[in-house]
Amino acid sequence: MKSAESIEALSKESRRFPPPPEFAAQANAQPGIYKEAERDYLAFWESWARKLDWSKPFTKILEWNEPFARWFGDGELNASVNCLDRHVRAGKGERIAYYYEGEPGDRRTISYKQLLDDVCRFANGLRKLGVKKGDRVAIYMPMILELPVAMLACARIGAAHSVIFGGFSPDSIVDRVNDAECVALITADQGWRRGNKVPLKRNCDAAMANTPSIKHCIVARRVGDPIEMKAGRDVWWDDVVKDQPGECAPEAMNAEDLLYLLYTSGTTAKPKGIKHTTGGYLTHVTMTHKLVFDLKESDVYWCAADIGWVTGHSYIVYGPLANLATSVIYEGTPDFPDKDRLWEIVERYKVNILYTAPTAIRTFMKWGDEYPRKHDLSTLRLLGSVGEPINPEAWMWYREHIGGNRCPVVDTWWQTETGGIMISPLPGVTATAPGSATYPLPGIAADIVNDQGESVPLGGGGYAVLTRPWPGMLRGIWGDDERYKQTYWSKFPHKYLAGDGARRDLDGNFWFMGRIDDVMNVSGHRISTTEVESAFVEHPKVAETAVCGKLDDVTGQAIYAFVSLRGGELGSTELADELREYVGNKLGKFTRPKYITFTQELPKTRSGKIMRRLLRDVAEGRTLGDTTTLADATIVKDLQDRAKSEASSADE
Ligand code: WTA
Repeated sequence: MKSAESIEALSKESRRFPPPPEFAAQANAQPGIYKEAERDYLAFWESWARKLDWSKPFTKILEWNEPFARWFGDGELNASVNCLDRHVRAGKGERIAYYYEGEPGDRRTISYKQLLDDVCRFANGLRKLGVKKGDRVAIYMPMILELPVAMLACARIGAAHSVIFGGFSPDSIVDRVNDAECVALITADQGWRRGNKVPLKRNCDAAMANTPSIKHCIVARRVGDPIEMKAGRDVWWDDVVKDQPGECAPEAMNAEDLLYLLYTSGTTAKPKGIKHTTGGYLTHVTMTHKLVFDLKESDVYWCAADIGWVTGHSYIVYGPLANLATSVIYEGTPDFPDKDRLWEIVERYKVNILYTAPTAIRTFMKWGDEYPRKHDLSTLRLLGSVGEPINPEAWMWYREHIGGNRCPVVDTWWQTETGGIMISPLPGVTATAPGSATYPLPGIAADIVNDQGESVPLGGGGYAVLTRPWPGMLRGIWGDDERYKQTYWSKFPHKYLAGDGARRDLDGNFWFMGRIDDVMNVSGHRISTTEVESAFVEHPKVAETAVCGKLDDVTGQAIYAFVSLRGGELGSTELADELREYVGNKLGKFTRPKYITFTQELPKTRSGKIMRRLLRDVAEGRTLGDTTTLADATIVKDLQDRAKSEASSADE
């Protein structure tokens, strides 16, 4: 990048939605909270940390030896105690922790007391197998209740969990297990996905041929088909918990002891094991879950992410349980058996708060509003979005068709590395703007800087950075302090580099524009892929689009757009021309995409992120990099064929 300062802010989104007065009046966070936190941000975080249950109270708040932080570093606590025991002790044991719904339609309700019981039994079983404090345990499971039970049981005995998303391949399991030298692998026989059986144990078997550190593989029974069990290594979950008592003495953990590892991809092929510790992390997710989602005791809350990603760790497991929430967990895909499954679930459990991702929202748009319209969604009072920039069109659709124009929409910006939400509206305080994550939360300090690391004045764009430590921050990369320093702390002194481009409007709202490498440079104009995508999606025929740069002799880069249309049609040359005009008119002539390839589906990971790296490869006509994380590998082959004919016609 030459000058990040000149990322051009092209869209002019001026709609604002102040909090509805009734919502504002009852909100957990009130306007004074920003000032209060800024007056003494350490005292602010301390007050949230003090709400947790500490077996040894802390006396220190922050020890900052840049870039290594210790929060509440002389305190001791246990995460599972904070999520379970203290609620049961407070007489809330009968409260429902999770409404569980499996994809085939099986349902289960589990109270805090039952969850504690399950966690203790499994924790005792793990101890009996020899798993101990300081070990790492890999978890590769479908979205079944045994998954949070396994995580909390690890936390109880002081073993760090490393959850590996159930859509990953055996190779990805091998890399992650070996990097952390996990001693046990917890899985299920199979999982359900869109009516198909996912061979989880078989994937583990393939992986375990190459993971010498694994001593035990524990298998929960989900589907029930016969599977292979290797004597001496593999053991059924039911046998592990059999005859175990429902009490289990928790390990007293130092606030800075490792709670979990979660692997995330970076610019190199080797995934990074992001380290999260106990006290600061719990403080951060508790505060943000309570304030951003305005959680009340009467609420039914649903984060429709997968626990295999950080969103599930922080906002299905630790945050909600620490806050005594009643949550929904759903195992399967949103279109099984039909495209209204999510709305059926909202209606059934009378969900009040829904948290999902832009990619899902755009998919719902594409399917059409007749699906949500079939169901009573009137219990919803707050909507959240996470994972990518949300284009204003999708934001407005979400607000109208899911939120009935009555629910605040909170667009929450954060990362695996940040542990919890960093930049987001507070729903009773902040006037929201479609497509903007608005402001840093109380206690959080963020900025936008240019290539020299200087703060860019309001109205400008550049690199998003965080300018002081926060409790949920990563404590490094497992086994690689150098890479931690290099990746996040070397570009600008004393600033954490998030790797996202962003701009701020004159009111100081943050508008995220995708990863830094998603910024194109066309004839010297820096153009955010997100902004072009947003313009596309405003066209009534367009469902979803991904834009990238393609090297160009004349302009440096030319804009390449992959477009999928509503109703699954494939477009014509005429429509391509119409779309070029359309985008050019919205954002400026120089943003007219040179190449447009229509496709029924964009290539996505199983977590729903568009695989831009692959699209860039397709656009440039390169051989494809790693495709193992793709949800559907046939899509790219088809795209390559279409792109070839597109490139030859555009070059004529
Ligand atoms: C992107 C997910 C814009 C961003 C919690 C970030 C977002 C990356 C938003 C982290 C948002 C996440 N608006 N972009 N509200 N939320 N991102 O680690 O590029 O899976 O750096 O964490 O997702 O993805 P991760």
